[in-house]
Amino acid sequence: MQTEQEPIRYDERAWKPRPTLSGPDYTSLETYDEERERIWFGDWVCIGRTEELPEPGDYIVRDLAGESIFITRNEGRELHGFYNVCSHRGTKFLDDEPAAGHIRKAFVCPYHAWAYDLNGRLVGTPNVKEGELFDRSDYPLHGFAVESYAGFLFVSMARQPRPLMEWMGQGAESVNMFDRFKMDELRVGVRIVYEVEANWKIVVENYNECLHCPQIHPELVQVVPLFRFGEVWDEETRDDGNWMREGATSFTMTGESELPKLPGLEPEDYSMYYGAYQFPNLMLNLHPDCVMYYIGYPKGPSHTTVVSEYLFRPETIGDPSLFNPEPVVELWDLISRQDWEVCQRAQTGVGSRAFTTGVYPRQDRFLYDFNERYRKEMGRALLG
Ligand code: FES
Ligand SMILES: [Fe+2]
Repeated sequence: MQTEQEPIRYDERAWKPRPTLSGPDYTSLETYDEERERIWFGDWVCIGRTEELPEPGDYIVRDLAGESIFITRNEGRELHGFYNVCSHRGTKFLDDEPAAGHIRKAFVCPYHAWAYDLNGRLVGTPNVKEGELFDRSDYPLHGFAVESYAGFLFVSMARQPRPLMEWMGQGAESVNMFDRFKMDELRVGVRIVYEVEANWKIVVENYNECLHCPQIHPELVQVVPLFRFGEVWDEETRDDGNWMREGATSFTMTGESELPKLPGLEPEDYSMYYGAYQFPNLMLNLHPDCVMYYIGYPKGPSHTTVVSEYLFRPETIGDPSLFNPEPVVELWDLISRQDWEVCQRAQTGVGSRAFTTGVYPRQDRFLYDFNERYRKEMGRALLG
């Protein structure tokens, strides 16, 4: 796929060691606050799946970098996004848990019982008298843009959100490289949430490199032999896929699983692993029988909640004789925990007064790519 940013990874000869981000980029509240405005509230961000609110009246609540927001599906089945802030006196009116629910008619603020419909319109103001010349239509909820692609939900809280597809095509990789997996039809069969004591960028950087694989993931390098050499991509293959070991047809310890294969893929897809990172927080892993992803939610400079979900065909999930996700989940859960442990170590180290910046060798070039994108989004000069 053609992208705006020419991926640095294709130019191996030109590589020279380059600096990582600085210590304060991973630890300071000041940087975090700036990221909130520029990255988390300034452009598109993934916050889950459309299947979480399938019916009119359904809604979900999220904490996005410290802002409580919610998404609704209205009677016309359209998605709308709102800040969880009452127009009367600002009260947060929906709780974080349960994170999903259904309303018949209206959201009612627990303070003075003002009520809002699924389109964010103020529809109830008990005891406010007509004679006050109070016009409810002047006080809707504060809204923002919501879109979906491949079953993923994206929000942009920017004042003037740009088209989702323009944003999606900006990185070296994108969700839309993998339309053949028909992810919009897949459903979440397994969900594991991890609390990671590390900056969200450390989690992203860790996802994007495999120099650590031989050391940290002895089981993974059995399944994907290329990872033994610290490389993330096989640049000879389409979409930078990675061959699993000879004969393996599933991303499991044994290389096999009883899960039905996803239909309609290219022949080589059934022997491959694909990864794709969508800035800032969606990390995709595509397999012959399952799609797994992480969505990272920053919770301060040194904490990230990582939601991992496993997608399967709905007919697979619906059939107990077919639905045995354990072998895939077992390997990914192991890899995930191995990753979070080193991410936490890295977080501790970058907080040291001895750490100014680290260094990226060639195998880390995609992290540098990510850092350049980060600098761009943060309004900083690129290092080139
Ligand atoms: S603050 Fe919500 S009704 Fe008063
Ligand atoms: Fe890893």
